[in-house]
Amino acid sequence: YAPNSKASVTRLFEIAEKAKEYSYSPYSNFRVGAALLCENGKVYTGTNVENASFGATVCAERVALVKAVSEGCKTFTKIAISADKNPCSPCGICRQSLIEFSPEMQVIYMSQDGCLVNVNLKDLLLNNFVL
Ligand code: THU
Repeated sequence: YAPNSKASVTRLFEIAEKAKEYSYSPYSNFRVGAALLCENGKVYTGTNVENASFGATVCAERVALVKAVSEGCKTFTKIAISADKNPCSPCGICRQSLIEFSPEMQVIYMSQDGCLVNVNLKDLLLNNFVL
């Protein structure tokens, strides 16, 4: 995996698309996949995991984040998100969760017309909560 090449953005998105196939989303029927690139080059995937108690649902992005942090990876350069409907920009809880670790990371998702959008996380969430 070549983390900084142009092709790698497309590749990271493809990994997110693949992760989406594992989605557990019987309540919304809305599948989401995420691929989180760590500074050490490792990629952690995630998918949304829903629950009959709706509030217990976890988004794809936070599944990937929790997998990475729990294995010692705490600095991220990119996250790609693939969903059943475009655009799927990360929700507010996921923005807050990610920004704590890497405000400069790039967020990649597909626009409505099928182009990959690449935005800086700190531009998606201004003045995040800090304790
Ligand atoms: N979802 C994600 O996984 N990531 C997002 O960025 C937005 C929403 C999930 C949560 C729920 O399973 C489904 O999409 C519909 O909200």
